[in-house]
Amino acid sequence: MTIQEICRIAPVLPVLVVRDVRSAGQLARALVAGGLRALEVTLRTPDALDAIRAMIDAAPDAVVGAGTLLGPADVRAAKAAGATFGVSPGATDAILDAAEDVGLPMLPGVATPTEAMKAAERGLETLKFFPAEANGGAAALSAWAAPLQRLRFCPTGGVTPRNAPDYLALPNVLCVGGSWVAPADAVAAGDWARIEALSREAAALRRD
Ligand code: 3PG
Repeated sequence: MTIQEICRIAPVLPVLVVRDVRSAGQLARALVAGGLRALEVTLRTPDALDAIRAMIDAAPDAVVGAGTLLGPADVRAAKAAGATFGVSPGATDAILDAAEDVGLPMLPGVATPTEAMKAAERGLETLKFFPAEANGGAAALSAWAAPLQRLRFCPTGGVTPRNAPDYLALPNVLCVGGSWVAPADAVAAGDWARIEALSREAAALRRD
């Protein structure tokens, strides 16, 4: 799948921090049951790579990616764990070269038009706008749409159920990324019904 196809799967890409691999399978199943199939597991915990493997086993319909990729070693580890795609807060040449080498579709992060143009020069036209709210939010991304016509975005960072519709109404937004669909307390408590309900509400957000 291309990164654009992955970003079109659902209006929200859950950003997941998995502290205990034993919760990974049920977390993925709850999110998929609610309607969110594309999942980003951040490499911020010791269990993250095992969580990716566990989610792939437990939820065959999920499209599991690895986030917080900070360098080539993370890219290779994500690919080896079976991730379908990678997400990074930035767009360094080292990380993009490594992703090309191993054949991992990447959603790299950009925060300025120059960064977006540099990514586009490499043929990457679907990008993460990060951190979205701190960089001007939907108003900023709206202003990018006219000059950067070919580019499409997944704004992430500070996106909530309240402001997600503003982003999803923009012509250059394919989906938004956010952690709110899997609150840490709900994951820790094994409250899969709550996570499924949050997923269902997020999946129902409209893309214009
Ligand atoms: C992150 O890096 O954790 C993502 O940007 C998610 O941010 P959020 O918690 O504001 O949704």
